[in-house]
Amino acid sequence: MSGTVQVDRSVLELEHLTVTRGSRAVVRDLSLAVPPGQVTALLGPNGAGKSSLVLAVGGVLRPSAGAIRLGGEELAGRRPEVIRKAGVAIVPEGRRLLGDLTVGDNLEVAMYALSKAEGRAGREHALELFPELVKRLDVTSRLLSGGEQQMLVLAQALVSKPRVVLIDELSLGLAPIVVQRLIPRIRAVAESGTGVLLIEQFAAVALELATTAHVFEGGVVRWSGPATTLKEDPELLRSAYLAGG
Ligand SMILES: Nc1ncnc2c1ncn2[C@@H]1O[C@H](COP(=O)(O)OP(=O)(O)OP(=O)(O)O)[C@@H](O)[C@H]1O
Ligand SMILES: [Mg+2]
Repeated sequence: MSGTVQVDRSVLELEHLTVTRGSRAVVRDLSLAVPPGQVTALLGPNGAGKSSLVLAVGGVLRPSAGAIRLGGEELAGRRPEVIRKAGVAIVPEGRRLLGDLTVGDNLEVAMYALSKAEGRAGREHALELFPELVKRLDVTSRLLSGGEQQMLVLAQALVSKPRVVLIDELSLGLAPIVVQRLIPRIRAVAESGTGVLLIEQFAAVALELATTAHVFEGGVVRWSGPATTLKEDPELLRSAYLAGG
């Protein structure tokens, strides 16, 4: 035995993370892991602190305490480019695209920090996961449907071939039938080896995909366990959603 500890290079670990906005801790002492190759759900009502958590992991907000580690590498407080380069991609709320640019150009923009070869490989990887975009490459992004726009922001996050991707509100504002079409695509992202943290206010979609689920309310994780348990016991979720209100 060498005694060397094997660190899984693709597990994102958040430990005792606290994020403060104004004078208020909006994420408090949060610990969870995002393993590779599966979807982990983070569910929580309006104002739970979900987007603040995403922004902190992405380096946009600086955590006031705790650790953000990818495969053992400490990322808390690092700059967004450093975090992305380490292998963590975030898909922020709101599907922000450069509306006047084509789909292809929006993908190019996402490739700016990559070498030519990495960019080419990443673009191919993203388009394999979202083949629907291939025939839309020359279309102005503004003209895409909501579902296509969501695919494009996901594809933008995936061009860097991240080890982990955090998706903030995949289903918000999309018709249920559109969301149903996205589900197998997210499953494919996880099956490609990427760890997915799927953050949702509406539980059904996330629980359909997730292995493990966390219920988040008032900045605190109230419950963690197998997604199937939560699916079979809606009361667990309901009580957490009502706790704050
Ligand atoms: N820029 C800001 N400055 C100060 N407080 C903020 C700011 N943005 C959000 N907050 C507060 O932080 C808390 C968490 O908000 P956050 O947006 O992270 O929640 P959320 O779970 O993403 O909610 P939603 O479901 O509405 O997207 C809320 O109480 C909110 O009012
Ligand atoms: Mg939010």
